[in-house]
Amino acid sequence: MKKDIGVIPAVYPMPVLMVAAYDANEKVNVMNVAWGQICDMDKIILFIGEGKKTWLNIQESKAFTVALADEAHVDVADFFGIASGNKINDKFERTGYHAVKSDKVNAPIIEEFPVVMECELLEFLETEYVSAIVGKIVNVKAEENVLSENGKVDPTKLQALMFDQFQNGYYSTGEKVATAWNAGVELMKK
Ligand SMILES: Cc1cc2nc3c(=O)[nH]c(=O)nc-3n(C[C@H](O)[C@H](O)[C@H](O)COP(=O)(O)O)c2cc1C
Repeated sequence: MKKDIGVIPAVYPMPVLMVAAYDANEKVNVMNVAWGQICDMDKIILFIGEGKKTWLNIQESKAFTVALADEAHVDVADFFGIASGNKINDKFERTGYHAVKSDKVNAPIIEEFPVVMECELLEFLETEYVSAIVGKIVNVKAEENVLSENGKVDPTKLQALMFDQFQNGYYSTGEKVATAWNAGVELMKK
């Protein structure tokens, strides 16, 4: 029997996205974003609070990158969600991580995270109920050691973090249990 547990703003899993952008002086800042999702074949939507350093930077630079945080980098990924570049001037530098400029967009790529999307700003979307940043994914880069033989990212090698907003946990990726667009085909035949 199900219990009513109230208004809980959570689905599971949520991604752990490392959103990186430059300020006007090309200083790197990175934030942790769980409220983000692919919203078209080449678009991503991020729900970032107005006035956060990353929000300000994307307004300025019109571009950003989105990396998938992996288990090996959970401490820094979490730090990027606790500290703000508005208050801590060396937020990125104190991690000891490395950034290079994307060759596709005006945004930094954080070298330590194995998969990264390079995005151009399309719009700041403001409606009565929604405030979001929409980006066009112009390219994705991935370290060779997380690719499978078919050249695609292998989630079992990537070990991306998953975020649980019910209890504020980070979880690691489990084993593949089925193939999408396939696990349900037997029911199609009924
Ligand atoms: C697990 C986790 C997920 C988060 N998801 C979001 C999010 O989706 N949107 C948001 O505005 N802030 C989110 N935050 C909070 C920001 O990462 C935090 O406010 C950060 O300090 C902003 O950094 P900045 O001001 O340097 O851009 C999240 C924090 C954590 C720890």
